[in-house]
Amino acid sequence: MSEVQVTEKKHLNFINGEWTGVELGSFDVINPATGKVIANVPKSGKKETDEAVEAAHTAYQSWSKLASTERSQYIRKVAEIMHANKEELAKIMTLEMGKPLAESRGEVIYAASFLEWYAEEARRVYGRTIPGKSANNRIQVVRQPVGVVAAITPWNFPAAMITRKLGPALAAGCTIVIKPAESTPLTAMKLMEYCEEAGIPNGVVNLLTGNPGEIGEAFMSNPKVRKVTFTGSTAVGKQLIRQSADTVKNISLELGGHAPLIIFEDADIEKAVQGAIASKFRNAGQTCICVNRIYVQSSVYDKFITAFKEAVSRLKVGNGLNDGVDIGPMINKAGYEKVEKHVQDAVSKGAEVVIGGRGEIINENVCYYQPTILKDVSADMVVMNEETFGPVVPIQRFETDEEVIEYANNSPYGLAAYFYTENVTRGTKIMESLDFGIVGWNDALPSTAQAPFGGMKESGIGREGGIEGIEPYLETKYVSLGL
Ligand code: SIN
Repeated sequence: MSEVQVTEKKHLNFINGEWTGVELGSFDVINPATGKVIANVPKSGKKETDEAVEAAHTAYQSWSKLASTERSQYIRKVAEIMHANKEELAKIMTLEMGKPLAESRGEVIYAASFLEWYAEEARRVYGRTIPGKSANNRIQVVRQPVGVVAAITPWNFPAAMITRKLGPALAAGCTIVIKPAESTPLTAMKLMEYCEEAGIPNGVVNLLTGNPGEIGEAFMSNPKVRKVTFTGSTAVGKQLIRQSADTVKNISLELGGHAPLIIFEDADIEKAVQGAIASKFRNAGQTCICVNRIYVQSSVYDKFITAFKEAVSRLKVGNGLNDGVDIGPMINKAGYEKVEKHVQDAVSKGAEVVIGGRGEIINENVCYYQPTILKDVSADMVVMNEETFGPVVPIQRFETDEEVIEYANNSPYGLAAYFYTENVTRGTKIMESLDFGIVGWNDALPSTAQAPFGGMKESGIGREGGIEGIEPYLETKYVSLGL
């Protein structure tokens, strides 16, 4: 498939229903598979951020008062447009982010499913009646939208990480300003076009691109922004917590992870290999919940590694637009260098490379890394502690359940953990002992719109998806009525 120039008239900010920002100066959007510039987008700052927040604040007055059934129809319409334009959106995603086209198509469906789920949940924002404190008193609890939402979204899932916030925000009656990642603004802009086509009123959904620090600070200091929702690194999440103090914002954070995958001796090894491949190498390992370290019980250690190596040897690395490619490029050189550092550190401390162990920097903007397995690793290696965000997985041996639970939980992160066992008693105890927000038991792809995605410890605050996912966009008010 040939590369297309995706620059169009709508590679602009979308504020109050207008496509703006031509005069602001621009930055390049680069295809990480070829290094070619595919678009230029506006370099917005504080002024544009304040304008977008003002538009969202004005639109909030009427959007929040619409019947939830009306909001539901708008949200569903956007999902329908996404399905109708699946190929267009998937191709943009692969061009700007690099993931294989089949994965991008899957992400379009996944992203639309959040809108479909929250189009339904919009109609289920229930209140409550509480017995009064005296015979002449009644107490009613009502749920109301929190107000204007600022959403800061990452590059690794350019569509789904927007809709997972957009769906519940609009359903609750909030309006929103979105700042997508600098490397993947085009998918976000296409989603804005779909919102426009769906007839969502001006100012309800806004988007701007530009300097992340300046835009983030403008969001955090503006009292009209009542909620900030962020998916990204733990370091930035901590900074947002500090910045949110002055205006006491409601914040939701989906941050880093370091997922363990535990394979017990009574696991179905074939299933475990398939799960490890799917979780580790999805999106070239650039996923917050992807497996970052594997623990295998001694008696099946060699068996698992032999089967896993065989499966990894079949994975094809290349441009995600080409047929049969399983692993696309790294998003950028910094991402590549981090992966390389993890491998070099492990090898220098005694790990053995089972397969892979190297990559290629084609030029400043294009880097590929081979799918890599490391064995005989130890807890002091960087790869066992820091999020790798690349196609590398270390494997460590263990003997007992108690020992492996200690290994798994010994991390500041608590996003996702996985294990394989066919023994229900063991599995139940293991599941209950893992300090993680998401646990996959014989399932390495647990993400779905109806489940509450999110982490414990330094992996975040709040949940996205499921009935829990609309909560962060709602305030609780109680009315005490004297008769
Ligand atoms: C993420 O990387 O945070 C998103 C992964 C998912 O939704 O499955």
